[in-house]
Amino acid sequence: MTKLGAGIAITGCGSAAPKARLSNDHLSQMVETSDEWISSRTGMKNRHIASWEETLSNISAEAAEAAIAMAGISAAEIDLIILATSTPDDLFGTACQIQNAIGAYKAVAFDLTAACSGFIFALITAAQFIRTGVYQNTLIIGADVLSRWVDWSERSTCVLFGDGAGAVVCQGIQGSDRLLGFEMYSDGSQNNCLNLSYQGQSKPLIEDVTVGSGTYRPITMNGREVYRFAVAKVPEVIEKAMFRANITAEQVDWLLLHQANQRIMDTVAKRLQIPEEKVLSNLAKYGNTSAASIPLVLDEAVRQGKVKPGDIIAASGFGAGLTWGAAIFQWGK
Ligand code: ACO
Repeated sequence: MTKLGAGIAITGCGSAAPKARLSNDHLSQMVETSDEWISSRTGMKNRHIASWEETLSNISAEAAEAAIAMAGISAAEIDLIILATSTPDDLFGTACQIQNAIGAYKAVAFDLTAACSGFIFALITAAQFIRTGVYQNTLIIGADVLSRWVDWSERSTCVLFGDGAGAVVCQGIQGSDRLLGFEMYSDGSQNNCLNLSYQGQSKPLIEDVTVGSGTYRPITMNGREVYRFAVAKVPEVIEKAMFRANITAEQVDWLLLHQANQRIMDTVAKRLQIPEEKVLSNLAKYGNTSAASIPLVLDEAVRQGKVKPGDIIAASGFGAGLTWGAAIFQWGK
């Protein structure tokens, strides 16, 4: 066990995506849309879509193993696994399946749901366990298979989402702290902007006792409201986290936003006066992968050698709930 007051270091990352790709042209054959409409409004070109055999736990385990290997530890050394997802394989939780698949036998594992803010919320949650000295090695996974819950005949939503998984290893270190600042918010009054909600119908069991029997409805979204929310709240929450981190926007090496829409990312960067070459983006390849998008683009940038040890990253997730949050951290040991 680490001493109370341990610092945080993010020492490994990994990602995985299902094999099949769905391009804007493919979507144009399914609904009334076009490559021009989708790419000009969102920046998306392709997304990866999971087959029935490619489960959330499979892609999460693949991302997790890559992150653990990069961190240079073994799965048996992991103390805590938090899986951020809104699309579990099992509503009782999927983190335990991943724990078993990767052989992290010592780790306690649980799911956390905060939609597209899930990865940031999970990272911050794991950091609290490290800071209090309870755990040393934590694995944070962001993964979603939203394709299971998209109405593929609804053009306003089906063009936006893709599937994927990303993971990081976050460890306790003595003498310094690479998690420089964070902030998290929720606003349930705007909950109806973005939903994947259960819809039950009354089914009588016996006289005076009924149950709500049904399933989850496909994703519904008020795109304009979500857009307005994102461009207003994301710059604000990053500014607050930068204030806590005692840094200015000029000191930020990389802006790492939830990959919802290129126009949202460009607007946030402009408001923060962060130049576009510092904005990490891969949504042209993956679309919006919800809780996976931040660790997925981070992993790509680290493996490409763009993000280097010591670089300061301003990361922000935002989405259903509504929820939003930011974490400022330095990459690496
Ligand atoms: N192809 C062609 N036309 C379309 C499509 C499509 N795929 N979808 C909608 N349209 C039409 C609409 O029907 C509408 O037509 P009308 O003017 O005749 O009524 C027109 O295009 C404009 O629709 P808007 O919804 O106003 O388009 P907008 O410019 O707002 O762009 C978009 C829509 C891309 C969804 C935008 O609002 C957006 O990005 N919002 C944020 C959404 C988001 O990021 N969600 C996820 C964040 S949270 C999370 O990650 C879970």
